[in-house]
Amino acid sequence: PLGWQLYLRESTDSTNAEALRLLQSGVAAPFVVLAEGQTHGRGRRGRVWTSPPAQNIYYTLVLKVSNGLQGLSGLSLVVGLAVLRALHRAGIESAGLKWPNDVYAGGRKIAGILLELNGDPADVCHVIIGIGVNVNMAPSTQGIGQAWTSVREQTGMLASRDDLVRFVSEALSHYLERHAREGFSSLRDEWEAHNIWRGRRCTLSTGTQQVKGLMKGLDEQGALRLWIEGQGERCFSGGELSLRLD
Ligand code: ATP
Ligand code: BTN
Repeated sequence: PLGWQLYLRESTDSTNAEALRLLQSGVAAPFVVLAEGQTHGRGRRGRVWTSPPAQNIYYTLVLKVSNGLQGLSGLSLVVGLAVLRALHRAGIESAGLKWPNDVYAGGRKIAGILLELNGDPADVCHVIIGIGVNVNMAPSTQGIGQAWTSVREQTGMLASRDDLVRFVSEALSHYLERHAREGFSSLRDEWEAHNIWRGRRCTLSTGTQQVKGLMKGLDEQGALRLWIEGQGERCFSGGELSLRLD
């Protein structure tokens, strides 16, 4: 019903990489790549995304963006909202959002989002939206460098990955359409309602420096508002930023 072609893979290096190859071989967006497992799943800033087969969701949606940077503004936040809605539908009421685009449950990461661009953002380009959700990942899984959780752990039951893929697709369709029609500002309040760190003391890493401040929330475009001692409020946006609790 969504009209998205689905490309299923038993195993691939990364669904984002596979999506890029499909795009370059002439497949027309929108389309979805879904894999049972990934051999080189990737996170932001070149990090590794642990991707054992048959336990989780590795999902990539490719969209054509024709209104350039304006169309992209706030997109990764909107994708976070969609994943959040899917997890709420799966029964995880406590799921919330960590700026810019991690989904947490019970204080630990349950899903991650990786957006990549192909083409010229000032002109016509494609956005490759990668989503990883920990569904039934074995609690004994080794090698993840941070506290994580899964749908199974949060609900106490093995979860249906088919249901979750459907929830993710339906929520993406809903939120992307609203974002395209009304822009991010119309979704900001909803994002804020699930902002898990608002009012908390945080450190923002920009790659070259670290800034400490109080998480105030988001501005109209989705930039992070930090209140910094001696400076007042400052806004930060961009893909390479990373927030930690103090
Ligand atoms: P931020 O993106 O804000 O810096 P982050 O610490 O979660 O937050 P990311 O680069 O977004 O960092 O995510 C990659 C990190 O996620 C990896 O360094 C790894 O520690 C962790 N990770 C890898 N696989 C998983 C997984 N399946 N579930 C949860 N976390 C994972
Ligand atoms: C992050 O939190 O750093 C982002 C993790 C994104 C993981 C997903 S899994 C599907 C897609 N393919 C990848 O290689 N990465 C994304």
